[in-house]
Parts: sequence; C-alpha cells; structure tokens
Amino acid sequence: MKQTICYLLALLSMVGCGGGGSSTTTTTNYADQPNLRDVSPVPLGVALGVGDFETKSSIRYSANAENYQALAAKEFNSVVAENVMKPEFIHPQENEYFWDDADYLVDFAKANNMQVHGHTLIWYQTLPNWMQNYSGDWEQMMIDHITTIVSHYSDSISSWDVLNEAFQDDGTERTSIWQQHIPDYIAKAFSAARTADPDADLYYNDYNLASAPAKLNAVLEMASDFKTRNIPIDGIGFQMHIDSNSPNLSQLRTAFSKAVATGLKIRISEMDVVMNPDGAYTGYASNIATQEHDRFKQVVALYLELVPLAQRGGITFWGLADNLSWIPNYYKHADWPLLFDSKLQRKAAWTGVYEALTEN
Ligand code: G3I
Repeated sequence: MKQTICYLLALLSMVGCGGGGSSTTTTTNYADQPNLRDVSPVPLGVALGVGDFETKSSIRYSANAENYQALAAKEFNSVVAENVMKPEFIHPQENEYFWDDADYLVDFAKANNMQVHGHTLIWYQTLPNWMQNYSGDWEQMMIDHITTIVSHYSDSISSWDVLNEAFQDDGTERTSIWQQHIPDYIAKAFSAARTADPDADLYYNDYNLASAPAKLNAVLEMASDFKTRNIPIDGIGFQMHIDSNSPNLSQLRTAFSKAVATGLKIRISEMDVVMNPDGAYTGYASNIATQEHDRFKQVVALYLELVPLAQRGGITFWGLADNLSWIPNYYKHADWPLLFDSKLQRKAAWTGVYEALTEN
C-alpha cells in the first residue's frame, strides 16, 4: 500500500515537473525505499562503461565516475562491462591483451561485494583489425582468445557470454568471421570456455528471442544438440532490448516457458525499454512514466513467475542512467530507457522493478 501511494505521488510530481512533453527530466526522489540489491531475490546487475573512450559513462575516467560508482554499488550486486571485455578492447593485438579497464571493473565489483558477468567472448561485432584480417589457424586463434581471457578471470568472473548473437531472426546462422573460418565454431567456443574455467556458467546471449520465435527455436535446437554431443552450456541470455509494446506479454510468456523447459539457467541480460521509438517526444512526459513503470514491472514479474529459483541467472539492465544509454545515440533522438534519470534519480521504471521484486 505504502509503495502504491509513493508511486502515485511520484507520478503526480512528474506531471508537475516534466509532463506534457516538456523537456524537464524528473527528479522525483524515492529515497525512502530500500535499494534494489537489498530486496532482490535474484542477482541484479548493471552494465557499466569503464574505458576512456566511453567518455560520458566511464566509472573510471568520466567526470561523474565517483557518483556512478556510488549509485551502482548501492543499487546493484552484479556488473557487466558494457564494452571493455569485447575483443576489440581486451585483445587489441594478436599477442597483446589490455586488462587494465576490465581489471578495474573486477576490482570495483570485489570491493563492493558484487558479481561479475563477462561479456562477451565471441561476437561478430567489435573485433580488432588483426582478428578481422587473420590468416593463420583460426580455430587455434579462437581457442587461445577464449582460454586466455577466461583463465585470467577464473577467480573473479562467475559467468560468461561465450557466444553473442550467432543467429538471425529467421533462425539461420549469422555470417561472421568465426562462422566463415571455423566449422562448428559455437560448440568449440563453449568447450574452450569450459576447459578454461570448469566452474563458470556459460551462456548463449541474443536479442529478439521472444519476438522472433524462429531465432529462439534455433537457440533451443543448438542447446539440445549440445546435450546430445556433451558440449557444455549452462544458460540462455535474453537481452531484452524491447519497447513498451513488443514483444507482448504472451510472446514473452511463451519464450520464457520454452527456454525454462530446457533446464538451463535464464538471464535477462541487457534490459532497457525504448520509450520514444518515433522520436515524437522531446521530453519525459507523464504517460511515459506510467508506461515504463508498467513495462518494467510486467517483464520482471513474468521472469520471477516463470523461471524457477534454481534456473535464475539474474537480471541486468543495460546502463546506469538514461543519458548514458546506447539508445539515444543509436536512434538519434531523446529516450528514457533505464531506471535512473540523468541526475541519477530513481524513475518510474525503478519503481516498477522494485514492485515486481518485492511483490512476488
Ligand atoms: O571507440 C569510439 C571512440 O573512439 C569514440 O571516442 C566514441 C565517441 O562516441 O565512440 C567510441 O566507440 C563507441 C562505443 O560504443 C563506446 O561508446 C562505438 O562507436 C559504439 O559502436 C559502441 O557501441 C556499443 C555497442 O554495443 C557496440 O559494441 C554500445 O556502447 C553498447 O551498449 C552496445 O551493447 C550491445 C551489446 O554488447 C550486445 N547486445 C546489444 C547491445 C546494444 O547494442
């Protein structure tokens, strides 16, 4: 009851300060409620910028680094590197690894009693030039890449996205340097990761798994084939880059249920919600607050309803605050896809997540 009153007050205050399409971001304060990490029944994570190239979002180099660290450590108990563990950044030359930024994140997590999820060992994007132009033994190169990184973090990283986005929405395999040069590369990547760290949970991670059933089917077939062949895989990551309508709840329910039936762990691995798909809004309007509250709450509640305790790998949000999200850059207009506003204040999305975590 108290939460509902708080939420209503929050909505009223948004109408007052940022409604009707004005350009004011809400500064509503939900400070009287506990932190998410203290109420969550699942690991609750956030993707963080670390590198100096992540000018705005870096928890190491940006002007706001200290505030980002404080907020992340207060609300979350799990972290993911938004970029610095991707091959281009962590493995810039064939014989050179750059650990500095990724180590910084790991140390930050340790200091604040947070888990680290590794993202991502093999992807078709964000590759260093040397990898794209490689002319040696591709299979050995991929295995060395995975082995070196997973071994480096075997004491500090408990789960990995081994393969990111290997299928297209129609269920066919995506073309990539890996797919072109290494037969059965997905299975070989998972096996190499298991050998490097037998204790880490190994995930396949992708987007549109609920809105593109053919893609989910391809992932499930892969998992079932792995089982037959004794290839290791522990979980499936639903990225959950969604908007406020699609996928609908029935699609999400079907997709979660099918994935749960495999017995694998399930993560919501990169959640954010596009609230301004057409760029129609120039400011954070009151109806956006209502929609984002409901959308975040429904998705998190559905995850908790459908994924049994033992299979919950956790929920990670793809960025700390609206102004740090990849979405406004990508779509080239304003958006409010995350739990905190640009002043690092809790938003209606935060309340939706809080309610879903505490009411279940
Ligand atoms: O490297 C340049 C840097 O030199 C320049 O100063 C800076 C100025 O904007 O841009 C820098 O790189 C950008 C980088 O983000 C850091 O901001 C890249 O151009 C940009 O493409 C990169 O985007 C990242 C994207 O993955 C591609 O790697 C986003 O931050 C990151 O949020 C996004 O995350 C992906 C997940 O890894 C996989 N799932 C989808 C998700 C969203 O696209």
